[in-house]
Amino acid sequence: MKKGRLVSLPSLREAARRNPDSVLPRQRAEIRPSAFLVSWGQEKLFCIRTYGCQANVRDSEILRLFLLQMGMKETEDILRADFVLFNTCAIRENAENHLFGELGRIKASVLSRRAFVAIGGCMMQEEKPVSTLLSRYPFVRLLFGTNNIERFYELLEQALREEDTYVDVRSQPQALVEYECEQEKGRLSPYSAFVDITYGCDNFCTYCIVPYTRGRERSRRKEDIVREVLALKERGYRQVTLLGQNVDSYGKDFHGPYAFADLLESVAQTGIDRIRFTTPYPSDFNAKVFSVMARYPNIMPSLHLPVQSGSDAILRRMNRRYTREEYLNVVRLLRSMIPDVFLTTDIIVGFPGETEKDFQDTLSLCEECQFDGAFTFLFSPRPGTPASRMEDTATDEEKHDRFERLKDRIDQLATKSASRTVSTTVPVLFEEVSKRDPSRISGYDEHGRLVHVTGDKSLLGTIRPVDILESHTYSLIGALHDEGPSF
Ligand code: SAH
Ligand code: SF4
Ligand code: F3S
Repeated sequence: MKKGRLVSLPSLREAARRNPDSVLPRQRAEIRPSAFLVSWGQEKLFCIRTYGCQANVRDSEILRLFLLQMGMKETEDILRADFVLFNTCAIRENAENHLFGELGRIKASVLSRRAFVAIGGCMMQEEKPVSTLLSRYPFVRLLFGTNNIERFYELLEQALREEDTYVDVRSQPQALVEYECEQEKGRLSPYSAFVDITYGCDNFCTYCIVPYTRGRERSRRKEDIVREVLALKERGYRQVTLLGQNVDSYGKDFHGPYAFADLLESVAQTGIDRIRFTTPYPSDFNAKVFSVMARYPNIMPSLHLPVQSGSDAILRRMNRRYTREEYLNVVRLLRSMIPDVFLTTDIIVGFPGETEKDFQDTLSLCEECQFDGAFTFLFSPRPGTPASRMEDTATDEEKHDRFERLKDRIDQLATKSASRTVSTTVPVLFEEVSKRDPSRISGYDEHGRLVHVTGDKSLLGTIRPVDILESHTYSLIGALHDEGPSF
């Protein structure tokens, strides 16, 4: 087995440790590449592949900025890249197979071009994939994790100088870093931006790897967040999405003086056109947040509120800290305060011990909530989590059958919800030109629904009223209100 320089290997056990009394240092980091890295980067092309959730997308933007600062240019074509970066996810098992498949696919071109391959992200926080990479993929040169992104230049320079594989994964976050570099340059969209508000998660839902891969929960200061939103607004951004694994526990780690509702209000007062946030945790959510949402028209009337299951027995085994009835109460309160709210959720099917009766409870909860959409997942055991050791009773066939039945029901609900928008006029923030048809411009309405119109790229970054002509399950077709129907 090729070893390389193993500075620090991942340990899920070590990552599970929480010490609420220790205060993480806050660090302001102006991150610049050394002359060595700049000279290495000249004339080189990089390609980043990002998997997983928005937290990873945001981290990839920061890494993208680092690579741009070295003078590299970006390419979408992984086979032409001199520098390939995978930012990995660990939420489900198939992520590993996917990564190894990709590595197999690019191996020949990497070896012939002597390209540099680096892998970061949540999967690198786990022992098993790291050891597989070290033994079977010696052409991978740098492995790092979610807790040392700010040391990326240092790690890369060492790996380049030593001409060997370099592994540095930290199981615990070392500091809360505020980047003082030109962040906008790394961002993928000039209109819509992700803004981290908390990192990590302390909830330890029994199926979930995130508290291990992302470390203890820590919140950025309100001043830093508001400053970032104001800077984005000044540069013409129209929308921010506040990110955290559990946004409503914002501020708990520094024990006040403000909570998520206060932060949300401060962000709304910046006057940026559109504000979204994800992900809230049902039992931490309260009327104070809904009242801020109801009072500020620039906070979008949509909420992604993961329920995971409609059965109390399963929720308990998942270590979700609410009952079915408590979830329904939150939804009732939400609908009474924001009647036109767009409500989506996450659901896991086939959790260990799930019976047909438990599954029926999930189906009936979907009826009661009338979700506008949902992400549905088949339970995937993650090594190191309690649920991976729980006894499983249902067969794979039963689980797949439940999964299909749930998906059908969710598709029906989503189709019904989308059809209600036909013949209405909705404001759309345009963000993308279709790759296949340049006259098709796409954006999102206030509820977060995807809307396509015929137009040109001058629409990008504008918010325009659109008449909805046609609805599909997960998209709407419309025409610019002021120009009459174009379909
Ligand atoms: N922090 C967010 C989202 C975390 S991951 C939250 O708490 O809602 C996104 C979704 O992936 C989860 O909501 C859950 O539905 C799903 N998920 C997480 N771990 C999983 C696992 N082991 N198997 C299947 N789905 C999982
Ligand atoms: Fe995972 Fe639960 Fe934390 Fe969400 S709240 S990231 S599902 S442990
Ligand atoms: Fe995946 Fe890590 Fe996000 S495991 S879902 S990328 S927090």
